[in-house]
Amino acid sequence: MPRKVRKKMKAAGRKPAKQVAKLRAKRPPPKTAKRTLPRPSAKPWGEAGRALAGVRILDFTHVQSGPTCTQLLAFMGADVIKVERPGSGDITRGQLRDVKGADSLYFTMLNGSKRSITIDSKHPKGKDILDRLVQQCDVLVENFAPGALDRMGLTFAHIHKLNPRMIVASVKGFGPGPYQDCKVYENVAQCAGGSASTTGFRDGPPLVTGAQIGDSGTGLHLALGIVAALYQRTRTGRGQRVLCAMQDGVLNLARVKLRDQQRLKHGPLTEYSQYGEGIPFGPAAPRAGNDSGGGQPGWILKCKGWEGDPDAYIYFITQAPVWGAICDLIGKPEWKTDPDYATPPARLPRLRGIFAAIEQWTMTKTKFEVMEICNKQEIPVGPILSMKELAEEQSLRATGTVVEVDHPRRGKYLTVGNPIKMSDSPADVRRSPLLGEHTDEILRQVLGYSEEDIAAIKSSGAITAPDKPAKAEAA
Ligand code: COA
Repeated sequence: MPRKVRKKMKAAGRKPAKQVAKLRAKRPPPKTAKRTLPRPSAKPWGEAGRALAGVRILDFTHVQSGPTCTQLLAFMGADVIKVERPGSGDITRGQLRDVKGADSLYFTMLNGSKRSITIDSKHPKGKDILDRLVQQCDVLVENFAPGALDRMGLTFAHIHKLNPRMIVASVKGFGPGPYQDCKVYENVAQCAGGSASTTGFRDGPPLVTGAQIGDSGTGLHLALGIVAALYQRTRTGRGQRVLCAMQDGVLNLARVKLRDQQRLKHGPLTEYSQYGEGIPFGPAAPRAGNDSGGGQPGWILKCKGWEGDPDAYIYFITQAPVWGAICDLIGKPEWKTDPDYATPPARLPRLRGIFAAIEQWTMTKTKFEVMEICNKQEIPVGPILSMKELAEEQSLRATGTVVEVDHPRRGKYLTVGNPIKMSDSPADVRRSPLLGEHTDEILRQVLGYSEEDIAAIKSSGAITAPDKPAKAEAA
């Protein structure tokens, strides 16, 4: 570099290129991702903010599958803004209604800790508001029928253009394929996902389960996808689409049955009681009644009081390492050494008789007595707990798994809190919102509309039901 230029640069306070290169070389190496993490918080556990604080969700969900997902995210601290149709809202507000004039438990137990805004998504002004919400949110969650979101104009391309960081998460009944356009409810998914064909007794029809594995199960899958996409976004800076098909979610939960389907090629499923009964297997994994899904035989047995109480039963597992303790307990010590009973393979064809003998013992005790006696001996058993018993179980209240919340229209009700316990993010379980309860608040605080703007929006009909003033939404 000519001396003249060097002098000029020095005068201007700039360093010549060579010097810059030298200084750069002396700089410490760039920090690794790990080093750029904030220092561990010194705040007491649970006081450092909730896990998803700062995440804002545009919640376009309804019925059960989507709301399960967004409620869980709300329990973890996300600001969930539920968009509902003016006048009626989520259809479940009025379904299975038990208290006149109040939102149903169907709705209240799936929409806790959320805010509600009413927007007519097909009204031009409503579309404007939605576009602004898209710009202010991190995640859009929806479980409309296939194509409904696109018909509202909220295609992924449109959303991505407005907010490239937006994650768009959807529940659909089926993934791409022959059934992709079908509308799907819980039991359809249980049937299409392999649960119903493998649930029930071999000589009876397929059965659906009480646990909502199609709806709530898929909502859980979606929540995981959203959290993973939020994490990936910290590296890529962009959002993505997350899709959970209910058929896929159910099949994932029925994974062990696809395992059994493949085992069939190599011989009978010896842990199924049908094997012990000498009944041949067909081409598909059969219904296994109450057989245990694992390698340890189990069955549901009657307990004291079964004649009058439909839940006086216990699940009893004849786990191999505690076989001796079981024999002593039921008064069959000779089975410990009898070659017909001493080993798990010898017992397999005799399971029906074995469980009948154990039942003779369990019928002399309540399910809780069986539980207490067996647990002391490390014999795995599970009492069949009714919903009444679960609602009254104090340990579930203490852990926040069952929570009582107060609602302005229906009074106190029980809800299931966050089943995922986090030591630094206590669950935020609050009542569900009234229809449109937070419309004004969201328009003002989140979207920055002025009072005049809000008045104009109200008179446009974009956030109110036809012929109803905005206030009526919350009334
Ligand atoms: N303003 C105006 N219109 C709205 C609206 C709002 N705020 N919110 C919803 N709508 C409209 C939708 O745009 C749609 O209109 P379109 O069909 O003209 O496009 C209409 O309401 C109905 O939505 P849809 O999802 O089709 O409801 P549905 O009652 O007919 O079907 C399901 C319900 C659950 C069967 C269907 O949504 C579905 O299959 N979802 C995916 C699978 C799923 O989650 N199933 C489990 C539910 S627990």
